[in-house]
Parts: sequence; C-alpha cells; structure tokens
Amino acid sequence: MTARKLLLDCDPGLDDALAILLAHGDPGLELVAVTAVGGNVSLETTTRNALDLREYLGFPQVPVAAGAAGPLVREARNAAEVHGIGGLGDVVLPRASLPLDPRGAVELIVETIAASPGQVHLLATGPLTNIALALRAEPRIAQWAASFTIMGGSFTRGNTTPAAEFNIYADPEAAAEVFAAGWQVTMVGLDLTLQALVDDRIKERMLALGSLGRNFVVPLSTFWNDPQDPDWGGQAVHDVCAVAFLSRPDLFRSVPAQVEVETEGKFTAGMTVTDFRSSAPNALVPVKLDVRAFWDYVLGIYGSVSDAQN
Ligand code: BDR
Ligand code: CA
Repeated sequence: MTARKLLLDCDPGLDDALAILLAHGDPGLELVAVTAVGGNVSLETTTRNALDLREYLGFPQVPVAAGAAGPLVREARNAAEVHGIGGLGDVVLPRASLPLDPRGAVELIVETIAASPGQVHLLATGPLTNIALALRAEPRIAQWAASFTIMGGSFTRGNTTPAAEFNIYADPEAAAEVFAAGWQVTMVGLDLTLQALVDDRIKERMLALGSLGRNFVVPLSTFWNDPQDPDWGGQAVHDVCAVAFLSRPDLFRSVPAQVEVETEGKFTAGMTVTDFRSSAPNALVPVKLDVRAFWDYVLGIYGSVSDAQN
C-alpha cells in the first residue's frame, strides 16, 4: 500500500503536536509539508513549535512554512489559557537548528498540491486563514487536493462560545470561504473529538510508552483541565482525530451534510450550521468514533515511534 501524502496546516498547540506525532509515525501517511498559522498562540510561536517538533520527532526533510498571523478581517484571539503561553503546555523542546522554508505557507500549499494533482491530502487543525488565502491564490487546489479534512466546528455545541468551536470562531470569514470552495470538507468537529478523551486508563497506557510517553505524549495530553466542566472526563485530543480519520476512516461513522458558517450572528458567530437533511451536501461529518479501536490505533503508532527512538 502506498502511503497517503499529507500536508498539515496547524497551530501547535497541545493536540496539534500530538497530531503531528501521529502523522509522522503512521506508515500509511507520508507527511509532505507542515504549514503554521496563528491560532492557539501567536504565529511566531506556532511556527517555532512546528520547527522544533520537526527536529525533535525526526522528519528533517519535510518543509515547514509560516502563514497568516491573524484572521482575514477580525482581531486575532488565542487559546493560550488552554495550551500555555508557549503552546505546548509544560513541554519545552530543544530549539531547532534547521530553517523555515523560504516560501510562505500559501505558496507552499499551492505548489505542493499543484505539483501532484489528486495525490496530496490537505488537513487543517487550526483556524482556516491559510487555507482561505491559498484558495484565493489558486482556487483549483479545491479540485487538485486528494481530500480536505479539518478539525473544527460542530453540529451541537461550541467550546469557545456556546455556539462556536475555536478554530472556526477564530476566523469565521476564512471558514465560510473554505466551506464554499466547491470541494467536500470532512468536518471532524467537537461532537466527534469529545469522544476521544484522555482518561486515567488511557494515561496509564501512554505512560507505558517509555520516555516519549512520559516526556511528550502524557504532558501534552493532560495539561488542560477545565474546572468549569462538571462532566470533565479528560482532555480531548481533537486534532489527533482528524489525522486518524485520514488514515483510518473505518474507525468513524460519517454522514454527509450541508455546512454553512455563521459570520454575522450576535451570539452565533463561528457556528457551523449543519443540515443533515440537505440534498446538496458540501461536507462529510464524522459523528461516531469507535473509541476503543481509535486508542489501539493511536497508541500503537505512538509505541512504534517510541520503539524506533530507543
Ligand atoms: C481546536 O482548537 C484548538 O485549541 C485545538 O488545537 C483544536 O484544534 C479545538 O477546538
Ligand atoms: Ca489546533
């Protein structure tokens, strides 16, 4: 089986870092480029983290490029209260020595997809600013991308406001353009990702992964704890779910839907209004996760990376 080529646009970020680890370790995926966007923390910090992760995890041949510092039209907002001011919680990685790609993220996205039409799977785990700008620069990437998947949105609830999930809320205008680009958007949203919680049993399995588990996977998976959530069951590994979908769609039950992004609502800006009854779907929405098989898969890949390091 040939590996699926994956271009990951992200804002590392606790769960973005865990998603990068999965993308790097899964032999069914070939990480071909990483692009950073401002989101969870500033662009400077997400870019620095992407560079540091590349060297720490060991994929020096993969280009890393920086993209948009803030949303298309709104003020930038971040989620440093969740991810820590450095974006990776308490994890401090050695500073990278390899440079950024001289191209910006938009150029790298367009060139990578245009060079191999039908072969590069595009996946976004941050605000959709870079993707919207890439579509403006070259609308045909919507036809040339082998698939397009996001972690973002939801069909029942938000996490940044009652209605909106962070990645969409951070740049609703970009998200609206991206959902309207004529491709199918696989929307791995909160309803799905909140099924992938790091509870005590999963944490024990992560700790058994050796130094990678103790020093990287567990700290990134347990840094955030929501004291206001009465049903707190552990941190969700949102972005990991999106990478998992690309490699193992069989772990998900997915339903077509029409998704529109609210950009104007007084209370609902950033909401992904999802119509499962539409006859003109623009999205595929994973709704149910095989949780046990998901963790077997993810922890199996993390274990293989850990073994290769030792
Ligand atoms: C999403 O927002 C970010 O804080 C996470 O990295 C994830 O991509 C979850 O709402
Ligand atoms: Ca993210």
